[in-house]
Amino acid sequence: MKKINVNYFQKKKEDGEKIVALTAYDFVIAQFAENAGVELILVGDSLGMSVLGYETTVMVTLDEMLHHCKAVVRGTKNSFVVGDMPFMTYQISDEEAMKNATRFLQEGGVDAIKLEGGKEKAKLISRLTSAGVPVMGHIGLLPQKVMTAGGYKIAGKTEETALSLIQDAVALEQAGVFAIVLEGIPSKVSKKITETVSIPTIGIGAGEACDGQIQVVNDVLGLTTGYLPKHSKQYANLNDTIKNAFENYKNEVKSSDFPTNKESF
Ligand code: KIV
Repeated sequence: MKKINVNYFQKKKEDGEKIVALTAYDFVIAQFAENAGVELILVGDSLGMSVLGYETTVMVTLDEMLHHCKAVVRGTKNSFVVGDMPFMTYQISDEEAMKNATRFLQEGGVDAIKLEGGKEKAKLISRLTSAGVPVMGHIGLLPQKVMTAGGYKIAGKTEETALSLIQDAVALEQAGVFAIVLEGIPSKVSKKITETVSIPTIGIGAGEACDGQIQVVNDVLGLTTGYLPKHSKQYANLNDTIKNAFENYKNEVKSSDFPTNKESF
């Protein structure tokens, strides 16, 4: 398989082939994802909750993101890696956003950046894409706005908010994004957005009509300890596997059943 670039995703949409995307935060999981054929790996700021033990994504810093982007990039050859711009790295000024996006490409080594927001972010995204930065949009439920929204709320439930989301998607397409994440949006509205724009939509909690799907890797692996979102599906139960392994290890050390001659020199 050849290294994937932005054109690959456009072709998938045109050919009606679904795009497979997944988050990853480290070298090992990135290798597994690539070997399984995951086409787009997002180093999401969900890093904060999945790996760093934060309550929300708001506490994640740019340096933390870059550290994990480098690890994921080292674990991939062909998958397309996207770095998620964390809270307040692109809201203060467009100049700062341009500099921070550059750090993702130059230091993090990723293939593209993602940022949250709709039409209000179109001007910034135009500047980034004109300068040669591949950008993935993200509309609908926006985790970085959880504090002002008062929680994680499904977006586009009324006719007015649904229309506003469609306008957001069109504005992002015009600004040059290569794909848009649709998060927490009713299936009917995602379908309409997917039919309206010519770039691919990647859904999470946005129904089956999207051109692709993305999930948080901890949810897929059954490694999530707290709340499991309705949109997620567990394809493994690593919580139980790890718990059993650690308990067995502890018991064998306590009982002197480990190490044996086999593990000794
Ligand atoms: O941070 C993240 O993992 C994301 C996905 C939910 C799309 O933004």
